[in-house]
Amino acid sequence: TEAVSATGIALADTASVELRRLAEVWAEPLRRALGLRLPVADTGSIRVGYVGGLGAEGYRLHVGSAGVTVAGADGAGIFYGLRSLEALLWAGGEGAVRVLPALDIRDVPRFGYRGMHLDVGRHFFGPDAVKRYLDLMARYKLNRFHWHLTEDQGWRIRIDRYPKLTDVGAFRKETQVGKQRDPYVGDGVPYGGFYTKEEIREIVAYAAERFITVIPEIEMPGHSLAALAAYPELSCTGGPFEVGTRWGVEEDIYCPSEATFEFLQNVLLEVMELFPGPYIHIGGDEAPKTRWRESPLAQEVIRREGLADEHELQSWFIRRIETFLNRHGRRLIGWDEILEGGLAPNATVMSWRGIQGGIEAARQGHDVIMTPTSHMYFDYYQGDPDKEPLAIGGMLPLERVYAFEPVPEELTAEEARHILGPQANLWTEYVPTEAHLQYMLLPRMLALSEVAWTPPELKSFAHFARRLPTHLARFDAEGVRYRIPDVVGLERDRLVVEDHVRLELTAPAPGEIRYTLDGSEPGPGSRRYRGPAELDLAQGPVTVAARMVLPDGQMGAVRRARFARAPLRPTVAPEPAGLAPGLEAVWVEGSFRSVAEVEAALEAGIGARRTRTAGILLPEGPPQERFGLRLSGYLRVPEDGIYTFRLTSDDGALLRIDGETVVDHDGLHAASAREGDAALAAGLHRVEVLYFQAGGGRALSLRVLDAAGAASPSTWVAPGSSGVRPPPLPSAGDPPRRRWDRRGGTGATPPCAGGGSGPP
Ligand code: ACM
Repeated sequence: TEAVSATGIALADTASVELRRLAEVWAEPLRRALGLRLPVADTGSIRVGYVGGLGAEGYRLHVGSAGVTVAGADGAGIFYGLRSLEALLWAGGEGAVRVLPALDIRDVPRFGYRGMHLDVGRHFFGPDAVKRYLDLMARYKLNRFHWHLTEDQGWRIRIDRYPKLTDVGAFRKETQVGKQRDPYVGDGVPYGGFYTKEEIREIVAYAAERFITVIPEIEMPGHSLAALAAYPELSCTGGPFEVGTRWGVEEDIYCPSEATFEFLQNVLLEVMELFPGPYIHIGGDEAPKTRWRESPLAQEVIRREGLADEHELQSWFIRRIETFLNRHGRRLIGWDEILEGGLAPNATVMSWRGIQGGIEAARQGHDVIMTPTSHMYFDYYQGDPDKEPLAIGGMLPLERVYAFEPVPEELTAEEARHILGPQANLWTEYVPTEAHLQYMLLPRMLALSEVAWTPPELKSFAHFARRLPTHLARFDAEGVRYRIPDVVGLERDRLVVEDHVRLELTAPAPGEIRYTLDGSEPGPGSRRYRGPAELDLAQGPVTVAARMVLPDGQMGAVRRARFARAPLRPTVAPEPAGLAPGLEAVWVEGSFRSVAEVEAALEAGIGARRTRTAGILLPEGPPQERFGLRLSGYLRVPEDGIYTFRLTSDDGALLRIDGETVVDHDGLHAASAREGDAALAAGLHRVEVLYFQAGGGRALSLRVLDAAGAASPSTWVAPGSSGVRPPPLPSAGDPPRRRWDRRGGTGATPPCAGGGSGPP
């Protein structure tokens, strides 16, 4: 180890305005926070400059006995190299002496689009809070800020030509209390706020200095009640309206009149003047067609333009706006509803209702940003809803964010090039304060950062968890709120063949792990985890309950997992004759909300139809929505051992092996995976999967992993003939299209052991 005195930052090109500004923007907060004085000078131990041979935004960071070199492919690369150096300086001790490991890093991002969204419509966050949000994004190398500026409950951007948008539309008389929209209870407290143009310009410039492009969202045709309250003549009914006070989806939307287009185009002209980036987001989501169906004007447009229905009318609406934006040199982004009725020719799609919209758009040659509710909705719960502050619903723990893969397997390499990158969204219906905002954001945004930056082969949740405490300690020092992550290593129950198992836990936060071995709630006085321990399972299963206890006494939520010794399940003997590859499939149309309802319907047998599949997957035949399915047959495993079954479904599914439930992933939910283990003797085992598709996205797949976590070469077989196919029943007609509602579509709440972690 050699000590290098950090004398300052030397620029490779002292005449470069960009280099100087980069060094100054970076060094100033370090001086304030760490007391490290790093003046920009002719000589210095931190050398900063450009270098070729790296991809866009890439950097090289070298720490050696002669000092530190940060070299970037471009300004962004240098910025990111400095941020990595900064993380090392934070981790390197306390006070003015910092210990850096010798290293040589070459680093480039996997995706060019690394996005974070913020809804300022439901709750307003002022310019300083937005800048702090941008600072957190920049620290973790995110580079697109999607600013959701207009909503039913508030219009937040000053538009000179239409002053009532903010004079009227930025303020609501009160806000819904609690989760219930109907019957409605208001808090009686007026609420509002908006950004002046000056503030917006300042924020855009602040973001640019941190290599963040701001993407403004101006919602249309739905989520526009605040605008309609200001200018009711833009609606189909003429109003009058009040700025929204309830959460949810409103029936009143812009009417597709010439007055509306003139208004929106004038608004967008002012918006484009403020935001120099290439993209303008126009929303397009959750726009009920009720008013258009009843409106003579909307119906006249449908006739005049030769459109099939209101969905094509929305598509026509968006195309018209796209033409306008393209003419002004900008590109349109919309939520995946813009696929319905036909995609505008150059549009980029934000896939939020699962990944199917993204797959479809990429196949059509359109660019896609992946932001599915299943992995990227930071307004969802992070743990047991009974122990967490009120949230919109869903369940999105840290490890699920980390596990997100933005490029769907279904895409070819050519199609996959259209996946620009991931984005996480933070809607703020139930997020009224900045502290709460940080609690929902952190540390999930750190997981997003690795999803966006790191190639999948270098990702490891266990490694990520080990690196977290340093980052969270920095938040502690800065007074930034975060949710204390759960102890890592207890994500699920475990079966083992032997009567001992190694308990290995990771502390993902500064502090100690405290745990119990009888499932009881651990506290500061419980057993302290000091390293891997042997669990003795000879006397029976052991339930481990663990939680983080921070230095200041704060406690994280409790995680529990059961460790059990499992005798190998015997094989089916004798083997039935006449088995052939594949599984038997039986499906039945209907509205199901649980696999038990599917079983009952199949038992009744009415309208059931049979087919065959190659394995655990959706067969050809059933309708797009509303059906139940059973796959059955046998699984042949190659050797004795514990197998892990990862069942992915949308909506609910359940896996039974030899008559026992191994994975229960029942209920209405978006595409997500759940795992279970089974101890199986080599050979044949009875398998049954139940599934239902209620509406929205659809998915069913199963991965079989061996004890080492590798894909097991297992095969599916079933009796060779699946019997005579009964004739199809007369169709009951198209079910009504289910309007997706974030509140309704995500009922899945895994049983999650709880405790601790109070509301912010
Ligand atoms: C959305 O969450 N409505 C895009």
